[in-house]
Amino acid sequence: MKLVSRRTVENGHKFIIDANGRGLAVGRVGVVSGVLRVAGVRKVFRGNVVLDDLWLEVGEHEVVVLIGASGSGKSTLLRCVNLLESIDDGTIHLDGVDITEPGADADEVRKKIGLVFQSFNLFPHLSVLDNITLAPRRVHRLDRATAEAKALALLQKVGLAERARDYPDRLSGGQQQRVAIVRALVNEPRLMLLDEVTSALDPELVGEVLALIRSLKADGMTMLIATHEMGFARQVADRVCFLHNGQILEEGPPHRVLDDPTEPRTRQFLRLMESSGRLGG
Ligand SMILES: Nc1ncnc2c1ncn2[C@@H]1O[C@H](COP(=O)(O)OP(=O)(O)OP(=O)(O)O)[C@@H](O)[C@H]1O
Ligand SMILES: [Mg+2]
Repeated sequence: MKLVSRRTVENGHKFIIDANGRGLAVGRVGVVSGVLRVAGVRKVFRGNVVLDDLWLEVGEHEVVVLIGASGSGKSTLLRCVNLLESIDDGTIHLDGVDITEPGADADEVRKKIGLVFQSFNLFPHLSVLDNITLAPRRVHRLDRATAEAKALALLQKVGLAERARDYPDRLSGGQQQRVAIVRALVNEPRLMLLDEVTSALDPELVGEVLALIRSLKADGMTMLIATHEMGFARQVADRVCFLHNGQILEEGPPHRVLDDPTEPRTRQFLRLMESSGRLGG
């Protein structure tokens, strides 16, 4: 169903009206559910409208995967959620709190969100352990012993405990990306945002990062993930969202969106992915 940007409020319920005039209830006025709720968000870069009245909700323990052409706004959306970009219209709620209000404390918001990029961004001059414990000690004010115990427990879980004292350049790309994910997890985030976390990896290293993300899903972590790898989307997504022209044009369970899309634009995008070998099995 294509959502057009007509919204209405009736009897205290908010609706989006689709192209056929049918109403889709999107919640009660003043009542916000889900871990993340992006409502009517607009983002413009120097006249370039990147997000245009975008609506998206991520429920507790849900894994939502964003797909879409390069430049469709996946990273911009994740950056808006983490308040690395300001928005031009709409609201973003985290656990029912409007984090885009002028008075919102961005540092407090970021404490609750783990963000991992394609390039791992580990500090080269710090050991694995110090990379992971930096934020817990500086931002969350944990003492060194507690922070290191938490970090070591997580490193153990991802099979990297013996690398704790190494510097990042001694680790493979896959190992560095697992450390970057541990660095986000150590703060016990409510929500993980993953932006193309497997894109910079050699194919033989992708598997170990995917396995870690699957185990996070099994642990119930709520995640919003941007990827070009449809196989990855298929493996981890509860819901796949196709971004096009600044909006979510189509969404649904992975098999529905990836194998049987209803929108011509989604089909066109998936054909391109297939021709570049990124459709996955
Ligand atoms: N800081 C910025 N200043 C100006 N334009 C920007 C900025 N960041 C992103 N854009 C533009 O916004 C659009 C969306 O970019 P974005 O990086 O969000 O796309 P994407 O879907 O993540 O693409 P990719 O799949 O290549 O990672 C692009 O046209 C990009 O050039
Ligand atoms: Mg991107």
